[in-house]
Amino acid sequence: MDPNGVCFEGTWTKMAAPMTHPFLAACRREPVDRVPVWMMRQAGRYQPSYRAIRQKVSFLELCRSPELIAQVTVAPIDEFGFDAAILFSDILVHLPAMGLDLSFEKGEKGKGDGGPKIGNPVRTRADVDALRVPVPKKDLQYVLDGVRAIRTALADRVPLIGFVGGPFTVASYAVEGGSQGFTRLKTMLYAEPATAHALFEKLTQAAIVQIEEQVAAGAQAAQIFESWLGELAREDLEEFSFPYLARIAEAVRKTGVPSILFSTGTTAHLERMAKLGYDVISVDWRIPIDEARARLPGVAVQGNYDSTLLLGPREVAVARAQQLLRAAGPTPGYIFNLGHGIQVGTPTENVKAVVDAVHAFGWK
Ligand code: CP3
Repeated sequence: MDPNGVCFEGTWTKMAAPMTHPFLAACRREPVDRVPVWMMRQAGRYQPSYRAIRQKVSFLELCRSPELIAQVTVAPIDEFGFDAAILFSDILVHLPAMGLDLSFEKGEKGKGDGGPKIGNPVRTRADVDALRVPVPKKDLQYVLDGVRAIRTALADRVPLIGFVGGPFTVASYAVEGGSQGFTRLKTMLYAEPATAHALFEKLTQAAIVQIEEQVAAGAQAAQIFESWLGELAREDLEEFSFPYLARIAEAVRKTGVPSILFSTGTTAHLERMAKLGYDVISVDWRIPIDEARARLPGVAVQGNYDSTLLLGPREVAVARAQQLLRAAGPTPGYIFNLGHGIQVGTPTENVKAVVDAVHAFGWK
């Protein structure tokens, strides 16, 4: 489908003269008037407006309400002028439909800092075989309704990014039972490789059907959050991750929207990741941006700004944003973003100052 489509009675159709937003142009490495900027976790607890909503509903209740999804997704666009919106949801929302008992421990009303918890983690081949690939139109209707509600609320001001978790990152929560490291999952790779492959296969299928349906509902780009990929050795990436990530890239390519691969701790593997079929590779702060761009010819690059800088001082945050833009250079295909998500406690004034500085930056 066309990423600049319009919604007509629930179906997305092509507009006669689609306007290309700077974010979508940068994904395709086309020239832009200004560098587009958005930030991972741009909707979240650093915002007073988000915290006010979370006083009333739990995190999962929020993720399951299309109206609240739209409100929370659009708020940072109105507040800071980001060039793209990202669907408010989580990379684990489909796990209950797959048969896993998901909760967010301190994610009840009014509380924060709650990590995910899986009551019945995946440990054996039988556990993997019992997992069901979700049917988004049935199991995740609230996400798809959320996507439609966001597109309506945005009225094409900025494009909407849909997302799913990468197989390795989702598996780490499914197998460990929460944010408890990677030892059980990595041991599974070495002790029971066939079980691990069967798990990654199911999670890949789950990722593909979700992203296909998000795009059909109106998402105009797709980001794969493979946050913890840096935990794996090169040979394990080759065997247990890259083939699955390449399949997801291919599935996104068929939908017609640009694809973004996000990970951290993976700068040793950039040349290899450039060949997975993604339009954009998101890099963390552990590499100079000019080096990342030189090592990623033929793909757009996103990210690189250290989210800790946003904690202040503001002059340093702004100066380092300008320094990053200069180092990224004028070659089309750079999207300003963080190396990982905005941190809780980030002053909103600093976010605004950095977005404004990116927008004001020029090559003249
Ligand atoms: O980027 C965005 O603005 C979109 C929303 C989004 C959330 N989670 C909202 C969220 C996205 C894209 C995610 C992805 C996600 N979820 C990832 C990959 C990205 C990353 O940061 O590495 C992971 C690992 C998860 C799993 C998850 N969800 C964890 C580990 C936690 C607890 C830790 C934390 O940051 O609070 C969550 C909860 C979560 N997901 C919150 C938000 C806003 C906080 C919930 C609250 O309101 O208390």
